[in-house]
Amino acid sequence: ARADALPRDLAGLRVVVSAGGTREPLDPVRYLGNRSSGKQGYALARVAAQRGAEVTLVAAHTVALPDPPGVTLRRVSTAEELRGAVHESAENADVVVMAAAVADFRPANRADYKIKKSDDQPDPTVVLERNADILAELVANRRPGQTVVGFAAETGDHHGSVLDHARAKLKRKGCDLLVVNAVGEGRAFEVEDNAGWLLAADGAESPIPLGSKSQLAATVWDAVAHFIQRSGS
Ligand code: CTP
Ligand code: CA
Repeated sequence: ARADALPRDLAGLRVVVSAGGTREPLDPVRYLGNRSSGKQGYALARVAAQRGAEVTLVAAHTVALPDPPGVTLRRVSTAEELRGAVHESAENADVVVMAAAVADFRPANRADYKIKKSDDQPDPTVVLERNADILAELVANRRPGQTVVGFAAETGDHHGSVLDHARAKLKRKGCDLLVVNAVGEGRAFEVEDNAGWLLAADGAESPIPLGSKSQLAATVWDAVAHFIQRSGS
């Protein structure tokens, strides 16, 4: 869609979007990372700006992507850096969308020098410690009227369907909206031609049709705008 063809329905809203995958260093040259491309978060930021929002994009590691026009970009690497930048930006934001793939754990020790292998020493073991749950912190520190949106990638398994897991995660996380991507082999059986679900804290549930990341971004912003209207803020 042409930018000038989009509604400016997010004008006046200050939004923060996190994107990409964090990297947790083991030593100066190595890290634990994940395969997040960052494309969904970038699409959310780009579409929000096109629809008139004032957007800060907190970007961890991504594939090569163009900077979204009209967006304030803050680059970070580790989960701790992302945490700091998101909380700082969230202080005066109306909406925070956590699309980043945040590492759940980091190496408990970061070596100051490159780790070397040695024939007289046992091979090293990586000990992990828990990173802070940024989404849970956002929910706990939410300012009045602030909307907090989480993302989750779920598969169905013997404990339940994609939707079962998603409902439980929405409750656990306490966010206002949860965007659920159905991933993995169970998807075709579970959700037919849906790419996932949009769950709201008030119990509203809508399927997200398969489509591009820009289309998903538009669906998410429609839901956010609807949620803000309903809650009268
Ligand atoms: N998230 C976060 N901080 C973390 C981990 C995750 O803010 N340390 C956010 C993600 O950005 C996402 C949401 O929480 O918006 C859900 O992430 P997910 O990995 O699905 O949830 P977890 O609670 O980490 O559960 P799981 O054990 O299934 O990974
Ligand atoms: Ca996780």
